[in-house]
Order: sequence, then structure tokens, then C-alpha cells
Amino acid sequence: EELDLNEVRGCTKCVLCENRTQTVFGEGDAEAKIMFIGEGPGQREDESGRPFVGRAGALLEKEIAAMGLQRSQVYIANAVKCRPPNNRTPAPTEVAACSPFLQRQIQIIRPTVIITLGGPAAKLLLDIREGITRARGKWFTYDGLMPEGPQIPVMPTFHPAYLLRSYTAENRRRVWSDLQKVMERVG
Ligand code: URA
Repeated sequence: EELDLNEVRGCTKCVLCENRTQTVFGEGDAEAKIMFIGEGPGQREDESGRPFVGRAGALLEKEIAAMGLQRSQVYIANAVKCRPPNNRTPAPTEVAACSPFLQRQIQIIRPTVIITLGGPAAKLLLDIREGITRARGKWFTYDGLMPEGPQIPVMPTFHPAYLLRSYTAENRRRVWSDLQKVMERVG
């Protein structure tokens, strides 16, 4: 809450601040074992100040329910805290400007596992060049808290907005398989 109130809400570190209605910090259980990281707020999120409240959010909640959890039991954040105009992909400079906030959220939550949703979040956390189609379903490690903090296992999966656009049996099976790997690991 302090990070949100004192630093994120008034942030002007990149141009995304110019068009936002409000920042979208993230929400959930501060003790969550599972942290989801998406891309950035859309229109509904910009209006409400909450992450994943639109159509992609409804699908994410279904995924969380399928894992036997409630939304309030996980933590949900985004790579950038302000809505990119017309929902464009956030520019690397914007993601970089915002990343210290996410890093501190991860430090505070210290989740057992991070699930990145879509390409930008995976690229940010894992510094990988391969696209999400190749990276998803494989375990990676987030080293951003080292050396003081732990390494955190990361499972990249498709973004629910992508899944909505490409709602094939194959893609649904892939996402479910990624989530099951996380459930096995979290226990
Ligand atoms: N898509 C995202 O990546 N994040 C949100 O909060 C909503 C939609």
C-alpha cells in the first residue's frame, strides 16, 4: 500500500502517465504463493484501478478456479501500471521504467511461483529472446531478487486475451497443462 500510495500513483517516469485515468497497482493476497503477471491495464482496468477486470480477467478467474483457488488467494499484477493508448503493447522503455515497481512487489509478496501471462511479462522477468509459444510450459527462474532474496520459479503461459482470440482446444490444453505444472510445484 505504501509503495502504491507514495510512488506508483503519482508516477511520471514514462509517457503512459499522460493518458491514464489512474494507475493499476495490482491486488490480491500479500501472502500469496502464486503471483500472476500480465502486460498492462486495458480500458476497464484504467477505469476501475483494478487489474484483470475485463474479459481477459473473467477468463483468468476461470483459470484460477480450475486450479482450485479463488482470485483473492493469489496476487495479480502487470508489467506496466498505466494503460497504453489503444491497448498497444507497452514499449520496452515503458516496461523498463516501470519494472522497479514490479520488482518490489515481487520482493514483498515473495511468491512460491510466478506465472507470466503473454510475451511482454515473460521477456521482462526472464530476459529471454524466444517467443511465448516456445517458452510457455517450461520452467524458468527469476533472479531479480538475488543475492539477498530467493530465486523464484517462473512458468510462462499464454495471455488470457490471446486465448480468447484463439480459443482452440489445443491452446486451452496447453494453458491447462502449464497451470497443472504450477499446481504440482506449489502442492
Ligand atoms: N490485460 C492485462 O495484461 N492486464 C490487465 O490487467 C488486463 C488485461
